[in-house]
Amino acid sequence: MKLLNISAIVMFCVACSSPQTEKIDSLSRAFDGKFTIGAAIDTSIVNGLRPQADSLVKKHFNSIVAENCMKCMYMHPAENQYFFDDADRFVDYGERNNMEIIGHCLVWHSQMAPWFCYDDKGELVEPEVLRQRIVDHVTTIVSRYKGRVKGWDVVNEVVVEGGELRDSPLSKIMGEEFIYTAFEAAHAADPDAQLYLNDYGMDNAGRRDSYVRIIRELKNRGLRIDAIGMQGHLGMEYPDVAEFEKSLEAYAAEGVKVMISELDMSALPYISRSANVGDTVAFMKKLNPYPEQLPDSVANIWNDRMATFFNIFDEHSADVQRVTAWGVDDGYSWKNDFPMKGRKEYPLLFDRNFQPKPFIRDIINRANEAKN
Ligand code: G3I
Repeated sequence: MKLLNISAIVMFCVACSSPQTEKIDSLSRAFDGKFTIGAAIDTSIVNGLRPQADSLVKKHFNSIVAENCMKCMYMHPAENQYFFDDADRFVDYGERNNMEIIGHCLVWHSQMAPWFCYDDKGELVEPEVLRQRIVDHVTTIVSRYKGRVKGWDVVNEVVVEGGELRDSPLSKIMGEEFIYTAFEAAHAADPDAQLYLNDYGMDNAGRRDSYVRIIRELKNRGLRIDAIGMQGHLGMEYPDVAEFEKSLEAYAAEGVKVMISELDMSALPYISRSANVGDTVAFMKKLNPYPEQLPDSVANIWNDRMATFFNIFDEHSADVQRVTAWGVDDGYSWKNDFPMKGRKEYPLLFDRNFQPKPFIRDIINRANEAKN
């Protein structure tokens, strides 16, 4: 009797300390044979600091991408200084768990080490200097993980809405040549690695046309391009579903695969990046309307819209190679601090208690039923 009581207590304690994830099948297994299911993970998961998120990753995802640790400012903080520890641990984690590993991102104007485009006097460097720096950076990183990283976001966010090349130090110095330099170096460093162009706002017609042109230019130059990463930072009212699908089809028609590379969906009112966000109480209330929890009425719309997007990915599964969520659980998403700090957001596939959102349960059941 005494023994029984002790084991009951032990079981209760284990139940309290282990993740209480609702019993559902694995999301990645449900889409096996169609596309991989990825998550952006950061060092907290890799270093075992978030065991509940870690359990979700191991159960539901078969692909991971580095949320931050492979970016230039962390990996290559000074010209002759690289920092590999976090990225090494990230790649080890993926291998230990038999996951497809995606590298993000080799060349990006944001989170770029401050030295990268400048000389000692703070002036932009000459094109040949930048070209060599890109070659060195890309070669060093891609070679280090040769045969271990399946594919790289080679350049990130190089085109703005409307289709112009993004105005950045990179483009100021090299025009769009920096794109081709990066692709060439990445392929030379690991000829088997897949190479991707990655951007947000891919529903925009100007961006769509521009990326079609860049894909063609890469091919004309005999350079490898495997896929377009359509980031997929969605909102309740944007993007237009049909325009998003149109871009997916346009890229597929160019003979490349599509990755939904950074999926999340804001449930909160849209704030333009350029908005002057004051913090009057009334303003905060309006922009952060669900500080306790998401009302069912809004959650239902959110779930329906996510299901709509997943249906589109499913319908296009011949062209969609991977669907990656930009994070695991709502409590740990960049969206809680962007475009305004301190909002309570609800953008990911799992909630703050590590429970699957209802649409996840539905799509898993549907995918499994279709297999039987
Ligand atoms: O590591 C420091 C920490 O030491 C410091 O105490 C803390 C204070 O704010 O900042 C920490 O760094 C933050 C970093 O994430 C790691 O958490 C940066 O401030 C923060 O700006 C950075 O945000 C990342 C953002 O890229 C940077 O632009 C997000 O986590 C990451 O999700 C986001 O990811 C990008 C993709 O790479 C490209 N597409 C858009 C996507 C969302 O912005």
